[in-house]
Amino acid sequence: MREFKERVAVITGAASGIGRGLADRCAKEGMKVVLADIEENALIQAEEEMKATGATVMSVITDVSKEGDVKSLAEKSVDAFGDVHLLFNNAGVGGGTSAWESTVADWEWIMGVNLWGVIHCVRTFVPIMLKQQSESHIVNTASMAGLMSGPYSAIYKVTKHGVVSLSETLYHELKQKNASINVSVLCPGYIDTQIVDCERNRPAKLQNDPEIERNRREKPEYQFMEQFMRKAVQDGMSPQGTADFVFDAIKAEKFYILANPAYFKDFANMRAEDIIQERNPTNPLSAPLD
Ligand SMILES: NC(=O)c1ccc[n+]([C@@H]2O[C@H](COP(=O)([O-])OP(=O)(O)OC[C@H]3O[C@@H](n4cnc5c(N)ncnc54)[C@H](O)[C@@H]3O)[C@@H](O)[C@H]2O)c1
Repeated sequence: MREFKERVAVITGAASGIGRGLADRCAKEGMKVVLADIEENALIQAEEEMKATGATVMSVITDVSKEGDVKSLAEKSVDAFGDVHLLFNNAGVGGGTSAWESTVADWEWIMGVNLWGVIHCVRTFVPIMLKQQSESHIVNTASMAGLMSGPYSAIYKVTKHGVVSLSETLYHELKQKNASINVSVLCPGYIDTQIVDCERNRPAKLQNDPEIERNRREKPEYQFMEQFMRKAVQDGMSPQGTADFVFDAIKAEKFYILANPAYFKDFANMRAEDIIQERNPTNPLSAPLD
């Protein structure tokens, strides 16, 4: 896709971070923008700020883990602006601990947003796009965590590997069908966003027992990871820079959008080599880097 003016973009997780960066870039291109997010105040603020710059924007409070919310998002978008040309399935959260200590509530929350959120959007928007006469492009946000292996963040990795696989499959299926819908998967490294504070949007019914949460937060390895992530994210790419990078990739019809430091590619390569050579998984944290 090369022409964006007057076309329509729908962005989930649009009230903050990468989603907001994408929304601003869409508006700069002269697109009509639909902002979807679960965080009401931040969503309204984003809409107001963007409208103040003259952008054509609509916001829809949406919990992407709920199929009904995503269906309603699509209906409202089509009613207001017609065809959907750019869809960013971007909303995401992280958390939990090891694969066995993460609670069922951790698994349900993160799987619900990161994986089911993308599944609901694909199931809802692809049929709409298939009926359109105009070309369209879907960008699913995964992560470099979806291309590598290693300890920590089990749930996050499961969901992001899932999003990569779903995106690859969708890409092949739409090509085979000769559909005029392009697909990309965005796999960022560290981006300067609010992801580390994502618990702010965790629904009450999926909260952990306070005792479990307190014990977890007291553990040195939890504190180490939290501090490490906070620093890495703060030092990461800007959401605006990420959005520019993504738009260049959309124009070039690139499938894999790897917005990150080069060493992440080494980690992805390491995993691929482990599989090809049938050797046991290498821990990237203990592997020498260039
Ligand atoms: N920041 C990074 O370093 C990084 C790296 C790799 C991948 N990502 C991915 O980028 C995406 C965007 O995250 P970010 O870093 O901009 O974080 P962020 O917290 O700044 O933004 C995420 C947005 O998603 C929204 N959201 C959360 N749950 C939702 C739900 N159920 N329904 C709808 N919206 C919901 C939040 O309210 C927030 O506005 C995520 O998928 C994340 O996994 C981020």
